[in-house]
Amino acid sequence: MTNTCLHLGQTLCFDGDPFVDGLGAARHETRGGILVENGIIHAVGPSADLRAAYPWAQTVDHGDGLIVAGFVDAHAHYPQTGIIASWGKRLIDWLNSYTFPEEMRFKDRAYADEIAGQYLDFLLANGTTTVCSFCTIHPESVDAFFAAAAERNMRVLAGKTCMDRNAPDGLRDTAQSAYDDSRRLLTHWHDKGRASYVITPRFSPTSTPEQLEALGSLWAENPDCMMQTHLSEQTDEIEWVLGLYPQARDYLDTYQAFGLLGEKGLYGHAIHLEPREKDKLADVGASLVHCPTSNTFIGSGLFDMAGLKSGGHNIGLATDTGGGSSFSMLRSMAAAYEIGQLRGNPLHAAELIWLATAGSARALHQQNRIGNLGAGMEADFIVLDLASTPAIAQRSARARDIWEAVFPTIMMGDDRAINATYVAGEKRV
Ligand code: GUN
Ligand code: ZN
Repeated sequence: MTNTCLHLGQTLCFDGDPFVDGLGAARHETRGGILVENGIIHAVGPSADLRAAYPWAQTVDHGDGLIVAGFVDAHAHYPQTGIIASWGKRLIDWLNSYTFPEEMRFKDRAYADEIAGQYLDFLLANGTTTVCSFCTIHPESVDAFFAAAAERNMRVLAGKTCMDRNAPDGLRDTAQSAYDDSRRLLTHWHDKGRASYVITPRFSPTSTPEQLEALGSLWAENPDCMMQTHLSEQTDEIEWVLGLYPQARDYLDTYQAFGLLGEKGLYGHAIHLEPREKDKLADVGASLVHCPTSNTFIGSGLFDMAGLKSGGHNIGLATDTGGGSSFSMLRSMAAAYEIGQLRGNPLHAAELIWLATAGSARALHQQNRIGNLGAGMEADFIVLDLASTPAIAQRSARARDIWEAVFPTIMMGDDRAINATYVAGEKRV
């Protein structure tokens, strides 16, 4: 029984999607708790009930701390850690000036190991327990990432980024080598411990039709895997895509034509979508990933959260580090709120927290394991300090309910608001 631990504090979890089911989808206990045994949550409820039911459990009292699921970052580039916050470029120039030279360095396994470890430690400090990351074209970058995640016992998703054109020498593979390397890495890493392999064509401009076709075949052969890429991030990118694929009806069609559209597809950004693209993405049940700090930082545009949610799309939230300007999902929630305001649709605190946890987990098809507090879920959770700075504390002290108490932390909080991060029941921060 030594492995049974009762964590007490405020608790917040979800019985549904607050965008669809309203605030009734959220369950908050002022004095609640979660019972964790061998890395799994066994019960969630009022503290008094849990204490009575499990009197032998070791107790950790987090006081006023708010226990929520660990954050799930649905789209990031761990190799861009070193070039985060690089000034003054838009997407294509930003890739060529900052990103590609840095990604070149990941051929060196020792460098990839160093950055992967540093990156995952930044995530844990920021309360993120799961990420879906792009690596670089180098298999070494994938091995380094999954190895660093395994050391920390983190549930992660990642894949080798494939590019066989419009990238510099030293940063291109071929259609065949992308297929072969991805297949080998997938066979080695997929479902190994807490790792999932994700088939990863960077985006249509950096792949030939032959490469997209090869990766479409790999996905068809491994339908259990997710596939991640970028879609309709900037208008000049879209024009470039249509020039490179003259037969395509739209940007999405460049993926659809090669077997790269499906329910387990993850499409980052998805800002400037045509009606056909929106309908098709909803039809197949694909996941869109909102990357708000990136979309403002690189000047991409304002994601239509309200329109796409009401269209029934699956949507996750992400940092998109290092196009995104933060490692923090709190900061990503704040930026999502601000973009909602600019579009005339302020997101509620419940919607923001849902997006950063259960919503992203669902986008990644991991909702039965992570992203929520509930019996049978993996015990990846965090404890939020809702008064982590004097400025936040004076505002949350006036709160009349949990939403007013948590919103100042969403808008003004950073890693100081993360009191603790637990991965599979073990305290990591
Ligand atoms: N499109 C293709 N590659 C990238 C990338 O690394 N970051 C972002 N934001 N967009 C991309
Ligand atoms: Zn990206």
